[in-house]
Amino acid sequence: MNFQDIKALDESYVLQTYGRNQVAIDHGKGASLWDTEGKQYIDFTSGIGVCSLGYANEDWAKAIYDQAMKVGHISNLFYTEPYARLASRLVPASGMAAAFFGNSGAEANEGMIKTARKYSYEKYGEGRATIITLKNSFHGRTITTLKATGQDHFHEFFFPFTEGFRYAEANNMDSLMEAAGDDVCGVMMELSSDR
Ligand SMILES: Cc1ncc(COP(=O)(O)O)c(C=O)c1O
Repeated sequence: MNFQDIKALDESYVLQTYGRNQVAIDHGKGASLWDTEGKQYIDFTSGIGVCSLGYANEDWAKAIYDQAMKVGHISNLFYTEPYARLASRLVPASGMAAAFFGNSGAEANEGMIKTARKYSYEKYGEGRATIITLKNSFHGRTITTLKATGQDHFHEFFFPFTEGFRYAEANNMDSLMEAAGDDVCGVMMELSSDR
């Protein structure tokens, strides 16, 4: 299918919630991508930082195929070996104490927000649930991560939002100190975002 046909099909059947570039990606290899018209791109975004192995990595594709032929999705009500083994590699590589698996960046951020608030509640009690994020940050599209996002135009339409976020200027200690207080349980920053 060419770009115009894909775009028309998309617009007929997909809920139009995203602003998109006028390009349909067809395939990739390593750091390169090709669109449906055959134009090649060097991809500096790597799927917004999530395709760290490059495109069409054969070991990755084989691992996915082998697992899909064994068992695809199984709910988190059961243990599986790959789940535990992946965590056992992520923990030493990251230096963190344990891994949490989510389906999206927004869910990962929600998990982090919940962890900070629960820890604070259990250790210090009520009234200490505010999280400081950066102005111009972007943290996701759920009701909570939209509010965590430090840009006013993401705080429209979907009221009521989750409360308990305050925003500080990046590279500005005065702004951070102004946002800080006894009601704060965490500071959340995603340093790779350019939004
Ligand atoms: C910096 C940043 N945080 C969070 C998210 C949300 O991730 P997801 O779309 O997987 O929920 C994104 C997505 O673009 C992002 O760029």
